Amino acid sequence: MGTISLINNETNEKFDFNIINCTRGPKAVDFSKLFETAGIFSYDPGYGSTAGCESTISYIDGKKGELLYKGHKVEELVAKYKFTDVCKLLINEELPKDEKESKEFDLELRHRSFLHEGLINLFSAFPDGAHPMATLSSGVSVLSTLYFDHKDMEDEDDYQTMARRIIAKIPTMVAFCYRNSVGAPFIYPDIQRSYVENFLYMLRAYPHGKLKQTIKGTEEITSLEIEALDKIFTLHADHGQNASTTTVRNVASTGVHPYAAIAAGISALWGPAHGGANEKVLKQLNEIGDVKNVDKFIDRAKDKNDPFRLMGFGHRVYKNYDPRAKVLKNLKDELDKKGIRMDHHLSEIAQKVEEVALSDEYFIERNLYPNVDFYSGIILTALKIPTQLFTPIFVIGRMPGWCAQLLEHIKNPHARITRPRQVYLGK
Ligand code: CMC
Repeated sequence: MGTISLINNETNEKFDFNIINCTRGPKAVDFSKLFETAGIFSYDPGYGSTAGCESTISYIDGKKGELLYKGHKVEELVAKYKFTDVCKLLINEELPKDEKESKEFDLELRHRSFLHEGLINLFSAFPDGAHPMATLSSGVSVLSTLYFDHKDMEDEDDYQTMARRIIAKIPTMVAFCYRNSVGAPFIYPDIQRSYVENFLYMLRAYPHGKLKQTIKGTEEITSLEIEALDKIFTLHADHGQNASTTTVRNVASTGVHPYAAIAAGISALWGPAHGGANEKVLKQLNEIGDVKNVDKFIDRAKDKNDPFRLMGFGHRVYKNYDPRAKVLKNLKDELDKKGIRMDHHLSEIAQKVEEVALSDEYFIERNLYPNVDFYSGIILTALKIPTQLFTPIFVIGRMPGWCAQLLEHIKNPHARITRPRQVYLGK
């Protein structure tokens, strides 16, 4: 193991710190005893150079533009596996070994997808128009009262039950939050429909579970729609120590109920710098309104006196094209060809924004590329998903990642409460 030395030029003291070899990516310096040994601490606002934990769940190579879940490339998982298989990979270490195991897991989630009637009453108490991210976070917090025993989990069975329960219930909760916000009656899960299909069904069905009737008959949920949403969920399943995952870990570090920690993660995800960007991208593309206005908006994004930012662009870790955005861009074109019609006008504006930005010195110098949120909104709109559900969809996708990260934290006997220091500049 190598070491790195820190020399205090004021006192000439020298301190050695161990270098950690990560299994992938750059090495790290173990500064955990910096304060005890050198009497000083590090300053790193936004934690751009700081790791807060060890992890084996996902890996991002920001230079290459690569994302791995448990060592599997995200593109391969999207192409070959269902989202529920990826959930199993993240919370249970392994992908299902065959079709039977995959179906069994999906079936288990279907059986767990129903909500306690008390929770349903809670959702109906929220006002019309309430943003589903706000009501969802409240609902998940209340889930901790219904499954209070998860506060003191003891073994792998307990961990799995906790994770499977919330992964199964979150689509139902998103659908209920949405339906209440528009004054529509709740549609209970249909045990005969798979995880992703069930979600679309709970959003779309009329009372008594009937789907839309057209002159040609019942408008069924198509396998193309299910497949597309499944891929979107997988692309969001985990992403290292992003703001919401870090929030989940930080809150869990106090020993709180796991669903309280996840509720906090949902709140952290809502912000436009994080998961809330997908909703803002669509708003921004509509504001641009025409390809001829793209230059004007790009100029605004570059203007340091203007707080305007190009939504769906830039990332703390990726200094290359976000691999998730690449998959989504292709998916958008593929779905359009196969009959899920995209909004061509918005699509053209998005493509023009990308083209102009990627050839502009400002974006090139700063390595600003489209991120996962740039194209997702166009696809979700084509799947008839209302805009206010874009970030809740991110929540459904990210749930296995949050569960896996939370479990990794609480299973680690050396994990400590999160308690950073401050550079005090006050009186
Ligand atoms: N438009 C214009 N300039 C930008 C943008 C942007 N979208 N993103 C970064 N920059 C500039 C920024 O002004 C700064 O310039 P300078 O060096 O001259 O001060 C430089 O690029 C570095 O930016 P930063 O703010 O220091 O980078 P960060 O790592 O702190 O922030 C970010 C990352 C994602 C919050 C930021 O790029 C951003 O606000 N993007 C728009 C919102 C967005 O799309 N968020 C979704 C992120 S991906 C989904 C997820 O995982 O959450």
